Amino acid sequence: MSFLSEVEPLKQTALAELNNAADLAALEQAKGRWIGPHGKLTALMKEMGALPREERPAAGKTMNAAKAELEAALLSRREEIEAKAALPAEPADFTAPGRRRRMGGLHPLTQVTDDIVRTFRKIGFAVADGPEIEDEYHCFDALNTPADHPARDTQDTFYLEAEAEGKTGRKWLLRTHTSSVQIRVMESQEPPVRIIVPGRVYRRDNADATHNPTFHQIEGLYVDKNVTVGDLKGTVEFVFKEIMGDDVKIRFRPHYFSYTEPSYEIDFSNGLVRKMGKEWLEIAGCGMVHPRVFENVGYDPNVWSGWAFGFGIERIAMLRYGINDIRLFYENDLRFLKQF
Ligand code: DAH
Repeated sequence: MSFLSEVEPLKQTALAELNNAADLAALEQAKGRWIGPHGKLTALMKEMGALPREERPAAGKTMNAAKAELEAALLSRREEIEAKAALPAEPADFTAPGRRRRMGGLHPLTQVTDDIVRTFRKIGFAVADGPEIEDEYHCFDALNTPADHPARDTQDTFYLEAEAEGKTGRKWLLRTHTSSVQIRVMESQEPPVRIIVPGRVYRRDNADATHNPTFHQIEGLYVDKNVTVGDLKGTVEFVFKEIMGDDVKIRFRPHYFSYTEPSYEIDFSNGLVRKMGKEWLEIAGCGMVHPRVFENVGYDPNVWSGWAFGFGIERIAMLRYGINDIRLFYENDLRFLKQF
């Protein structure tokens, strides 16, 4: 039997084995038997060296073609097996109802905060941040709040055991308002300043429908030359109209804060307030930055002027969504949260 006549039947057997391999393991075995380093076809190729010189080209051509054919068969069978393995045993039921994927959502307080922040960014305010564990100096002294001021009373403020260190000294506490961040920002940068500070604050209040020992505020601070109450009023009005609708009215009522002079409370009115049976709702405190505050941070009050404000985020969220109990924000009851 000539060498060439041996190739064709071997190839046919090999092809049949490759094509009929039931799984990847069987396919690997067939590959080893035929075209692996110790395979039969490989062995035959090695015998070619013994052929008469004139027969070698034709034999080489036939062998190479056979090998290529087997390798192609190997590849295509492997793909077939893999594709089959990827298919489910049962065909898909395209009429079955879909499986709902539950998406997380933003907490209503986060949504309101984001809205307010976005509005202030439109008019050039940057977001600043500060520590929730604060020292008495930044929370009170630097804000011109004297040591005997009721805000510092242990009835209102959570004090920590440890004494705060450094020249600003005095006790550590949980900040009672975001106004402390005004001081930190002014200490660390030169005017002009245009910031808002969203953040959590702490007070020793018992929880009821309108109080909670932690809640959230947004502080604002604007320092530049020739800043006026008119700027303050215009800014507040713009922001409230953006977040609560065009029918919003605001009014400034004279008030007292130690860090502003003059100081005001901001009353707010719109359809929602009237629905609650009221004309005005007190919503924020504000005023022109007190010269002593500027002195405390090293700004010259004869050169710089500014205003500041602070308001509670919960209050705005309750108004916007018609929520009548502040505690709902903190219970993480999905039946509540899913509504926003
Ligand atoms: N810190 C005040 C509070 O917690 C709110 C406030 C009033 C902030 C007047 C200010 C301000 O910046 O100027 O009730």
